[in-house]
Amino acid sequence: MTDQNPTQSFPENYFQRADGSDDRLFYTQPRLLVHIDDHAIAAIRSFFQEHLPQNATILDLMSSWRSHLPDDFLTEKVVGLGMNDVEMRENPQLDEWVVHDLNSDPHLPFETGSFDTVVVTVSIQYMTRPVEVFSEVRRILKNDGAFYVIYSNRMFPTKAVAIWHNLNDNERAQLIASYFVKSEGWSQPTAWDVSLKLNIKTDPVFIVSANKLRFPSEPSE
Ligand SMILES: C[S@@+](CC[C@H](N)C(=O)[O-])C[C@H]1O[C@@H](n2cnc3c(N)ncnc32)[C@H](O)[C@@H]1O
Repeated sequence: MTDQNPTQSFPENYFQRADGSDDRLFYTQPRLLVHIDDHAIAAIRSFFQEHLPQNATILDLMSSWRSHLPDDFLTEKVVGLGMNDVEMRENPQLDEWVVHDLNSDPHLPFETGSFDTVVVTVSIQYMTRPVEVFSEVRRILKNDGAFYVIYSNRMFPTKAVAIWHNLNDNERAQLIASYFVKSEGWSQPTAWDVSLKLNIKTDPVFIVSANKLRFPSEPSE
């Protein structure tokens, strides 16, 4: 049997939240703060330096006022998609941005094959329709383009989906890998723990990524 809505192949209660109200209410107020500590941000910037292509077109999904790209990182264009216009307006690394609620409409307002790379940073736990969003990310990526899902262990608890609360760090990597598998058309997901190993307590940073595989029916570009 083919899933009409692939997210439904997970138990329905996985994506329930303590605050199931319209996300626009929660994100109306701009939050010009960082959600992880400086060490975690340094780890993300270092990973981006090593893995993201320069002079590329990048989508920062679930974006806010910081994209954590390294200073002097060369880009063709960086586009943000998030819930708050003021936050993204304050982000010096975005060239363009769009306010768009992925939980009410997982369709991405971008052309097929228009991005080299997509990142979603410390926000995956807020997606209630991840398989649909991952399918859309695949559509808007160029062939072989990568989608990097970066996560830590902090959250707005009332807005994080139930399954996220119930998993440990490793299991969360497996959950994200299952989003890639269920949305189809990706390489084998790869997982990293890029947390800085210091003698003090820092926020951990984990990353799961995969690259878009071309279906035989799709153009080769
Ligand atoms: C914890 S902040 C992370 C922001 C940024 N990615 C960072 O690394 O600092 C969560 C972000 O997810 C976005 N977000 C939450 N729910 C969303 C939704 N339903 N659709 C689109 N974006 C959403 C919000 O706009 C918010 O900026």
